[in-house]
Amino acid sequence: MSKYIVEDTKKITSTRFTAMKAEGKKIAMLTSYDYALARIVDQAGVDSILIGDSASNVMAGNANTLPITLDEMIFYARSVARAVKRAFVICDMPFGTFQVSPNETVRNAIRIVKETGVDAVKLEGGAEIQAHIRAILCAGIPVCGHLGLTPQSINKFGSYGVRAKERAEADKLIEDAKLLDEIGCCGVVLEKIPAQLAAKVAKATRIPMIGIGAGHEVDGQVLVVNDMLGMDPSFKPKFVRHYAHLSETIADAVGQYVSDVKECHFPSLEEQY
Ligand code: KIV
Repeated sequence: MSKYIVEDTKKITSTRFTAMKAEGKKIAMLTSYDYALARIVDQAGVDSILIGDSASNVMAGNANTLPITLDEMIFYARSVARAVKRAFVICDMPFGTFQVSPNETVRNAIRIVKETGVDAVKLEGGAEIQAHIRAILCAGIPVCGHLGLTPQSINKFGSYGVRAKERAEADKLIEDAKLLDEIGCCGVVLEKIPAQLAAKVAKATRIPMIGIGAGHEVDGQVLVVNDMLGMDPSFKPKFVRHYAHLSETIADAVGQYVSDVKECHFPSLEEQY
């Protein structure tokens, strides 16, 4: 058994998740999209699992996160929620499901929670969607924010470059993070912003700031699980560390299987009835 499998199965709720900041405990978050991997990720001790709309890229092969639908996110989230016993489970609200009105937003958030069993939803944006976030919170659903490089706005940004390098955008980001804290979000993802700014935001807020490409002076880290497992060796932005080289491991296993089948080395006498 792996030395990382944890025996503490006490569920991390939204209140426990948020309290980790005050307790000085760093939060380890990863994405997951399916039952099999989510089970391992949960057992290995992550504090939180995000069903990110990055599923659009890494599971469905789309060029960005815009095409994934609510039904598709619900399918992934339901599979993950079935597997997880301990981690705090958050599901991304996909593009188009929370921008139109507070009513439509809360209806979609309720669908996600009811049909999947996740603990919380995540939305990209700050002050512009404040009323939408408040509506979800009023329904008793915990909300995680997402500021900085918000991939659903790729067509507005024009690239996946570092955000908030200029003063005006950095100031707005600080104000947005404080607002999300004040209105009762359980945490915020800070994506691809200067480390100094992220540290300042983490100091100015009470809820956890979870960084991805935001340096180490924040309250936790999140990575896309496929990226950190090295499923695509050619995808290696600066903020990603490859903790495994699964692409190579899987190709080796499959290659060996193909060769064993062709050379009649599989199955053996012990592997037949
Ligand atoms: O969709 C996603 O995986 C995310 C993470 C990059 C934070 O939002």
